[in-house]
Amino acid sequence: MDLHLLDKVAIVNGASQGIGCAVARTLAEEGARIVMTARREAPLNAAAEVVRAETGSRVLAVAADVRRAEDCVRVVENTVKVFGRIDVLVNNDGAPPLGAIEEFDDVAWQKAVEQNLYSVIRMVRQTVPHMKAAGGGSIINIAAVSARQPLAGLGLSVATWAGVLGYAKTLSLELGPFGITVNTICPGRIDTGRLALVTRKRAEQQGEDADKMMQELLHEVPLRRLGKPEDVAGLVALLVSVRGSFITGAAIQVDGGLLRSVY
Ligand SMILES: NC(=O)c1ccc[n+]([C@@H]2O[C@H](COP(=O)([O-])OP(=O)(O)OC[C@H]3O[C@@H](n4cnc5c(N)ncnc54)[C@H](OP(=O)(O)O)[C@@H]3O)[C@@H](O)[C@H]2O)c1
Repeated sequence: MDLHLLDKVAIVNGASQGIGCAVARTLAEEGARIVMTARREAPLNAAAEVVRAETGSRVLAVAADVRRAEDCVRVVENTVKVFGRIDVLVNNDGAPPLGAIEEFDDVAWQKAVEQNLYSVIRMVRQTVPHMKAAGGGSIINIAAVSARQPLAGLGLSVATWAGVLGYAKTLSLELGPFGITVNTICPGRIDTGRLALVTRKRAEQQGEDADKMMQELLHEVPLRRLGKPEDVAGLVALLVSVRGSFITGAAIQVDGGLLRSVY
């Protein structure tokens, strides 16, 4: 299936590893030119080099912290300077710390809002004028299935991603007439370093064994496996392509059937 992504320009945030890296590689395999961001320069440059070598696509690495407004501006400015346009924006990064909601003060909440919500708002604000100029585009936010089926201990993420879901739905209404689609992907349990870390922390907090907890998590997934970062990347590629061009305002889980809801 030709996704017609040849020479499209995609910004993929949080792309030095995990889901973001798989998204960058998949879009590059489809012929897109990629801007990859992450905070740590060395792993980012290494990941960008791998994507370049494996796909032959043009890849620009920009070290940036998406919690900082000035970094969001710089990422977009560099993209336009080097590639001249923006067709795809993938909002992705890490996530706020785990813990019971009552443990967190205003500073922790402020940081969580900066990380999960403001990063999306600022990247979109900078990017949309260029998408309008190009006659359309696609915005993808990576949230989590826990935004739709909350888990104890993930309150900072769940609450701020709920904001992203509402923001994205509203944005899809406003940008639809400009040919810009806006969708949010809610991954379930995806096999990245982050899942291992989060599981270890949750096990510690609950006084449980991390390996046992991982087995239990796996057993809750109807497909009985963890997702691969490429499972999420495949959906991103579809949504930003002509094949997915009538899908907007959606929140779609990639979770092996984990979400226990008909909506
Ligand atoms: N893995 C799962 O099971 C799962 C499930 C549901 C949702 N998610 C969500 O999906 C997203 C990606 O998860 P992942 O498992 O791929 O995580 P990961 O392996 O930890 O990768 C996170 C990436 O984001 C970058 N990053 C973190 N904070 C950033 C910031 N402030 N600005 C720019 N880049 C930043 C990291 O590089 P630097 O540290 O160098 O910046 C890294 O490249 C997260 O929001 C996560 O909560 C993951």
